[in-house]
Amino acid sequence: MILKGLSFATLAVLFSLIFIGGYVNASGVGLTCPDWPLCPQGVLPHQEFIIEYIHRSIAATTGLLVIATTIFALKSKDAPKAMKIASIIAAGAVVGQIILGAIVIFERLHAITVTVHLGLGMVLFSMVMMTFVYAYKLPSRKAIRPLQD
Ligand code: HEM
Repeated sequence: MILKGLSFATLAVLFSLIFIGGYVNASGVGLTCPDWPLCPQGVLPHQEFIIEYIHRSIAATTGLLVIATTIFALKSKDAPKAMKIASIIAAGAVVGQIILGAIVIFERLHAITVTVHLGLGMVLFSMVMMTFVYAYKLPSRKAIRPLQD
């Protein structure tokens, strides 16, 4: 089922994004790309800001994956209400997190904005994890069909 694969891919990409975000913070390269939404060389990467560039690129990919997962969860007839709610919260959190990423840059890594960025990242991770767990509990179509025939 597409929802299982999609929610797993979303979780895996989000995990790598959080991992790289931690590295951006710990290595102090957060302002190597001082503009938003693009870095100084536009869409082209550069050695000077490669880590921050990767963080933003994976953030954009995560955004698309989270929204795609939400659309599939909402369209699924089998998905329970709790899964739909978790995926809607995840979609809201991912949009908020991307906007917050911009504020983190404009506020020059102010401690409060970076802390909220980490906190919202945790909310997002929990909601994506919940969506994934529910997706894996869904019965497969093959298992359902013989009962309906
Ligand atoms: C789904 C989207 C995103 C997630 C889940 C995410 C997650 C994270 C995490 C977990 C950290 C580490 C925070 C810490 O250790 O305290 C981080 C750091 C950071 N993120 Fe993001 N991020 C996202 C999007 C963005 C975007 C779009 C930008 C910028 C345009 C951005 C800019 C930054 C910066 C600059 C840091 C380093 C802060 C510092 O050095 O103190 N993030 N991110």
